[in-house]
Amino acid sequence: MKLFLDSADCEEVRLAAELGVISGVTTNPTLIAREGKDLRETVRTLATLVDGPISAEVVAEDAEGMIEEGRELAAIHPSVVIKLPIGLDGLRATQVLSRRGIKTNVTLVFSIAQALLAARAGATYVSPFVGRLDDLSANGISLVRGIAEVFTLHGISSEIIAASIRSPQDVADAACAGAHVATVPYRVLLQMAAHPLTDLGLARFRRDWKDAFGK
Ligand code: E4P
Repeated sequence: MKLFLDSADCEEVRLAAELGVISGVTTNPTLIAREGKDLRETVRTLATLVDGPISAEVVAEDAEGMIEEGRELAAIHPSVVIKLPIGLDGLRATQVLSRRGIKTNVTLVFSIAQALLAARAGATYVSPFVGRLDDLSANGISLVRGIAEVFTLHGISSEIIAASIRSPQDVADAACAGAHVATVPYRVLLQMAAHPLTDLGLARFRRDWKDAFGK
């Protein structure tokens, strides 16, 4: 399973990219709004920081608007993937953009049926939202597992991005459930690298070294 960073903060993306573990970036209108910077500028910068797919989400509400926005965003850089919300307009736009050779990421997926529609419309990626389902006492990872089973069973090539990730355990569970990608906030990426036993072990190695050699 690959890891994408779920962020529109260019500094975070730069730091994560330096670790060599990030294969792409996903953004959404909330993340872009949080940074308060122009979407197109941000996408351009992100594409220079990470050598991989950069998802940029459309904000138009109808298929025509989504297609127009999608074409314009895709022209920014070859790495750009157009993120579209599932729904009738999103599906129509996904179908048109993918036929034109533009990569798409269908987002806000909360059921296997929605994932199947997205895949059949030609989506390159489908993004089930794990954490937002868990917030409602549903099981986000079961959804990822179900989509993975259906895609395998029916030879569907769309990749599953486990999104709305809240913890390192979500990442591990998404990997076991068959997601192709987990898109993680920077905070979760930092948590993934840490373990209290790693800290204790390192402190002991350093103390034993110092006790024996005095430096
Ligand atoms: C996915 O691509 C979305 O940007 C994101 O994962 C949403 O996560 P949230 O539920 O933390 O907002």
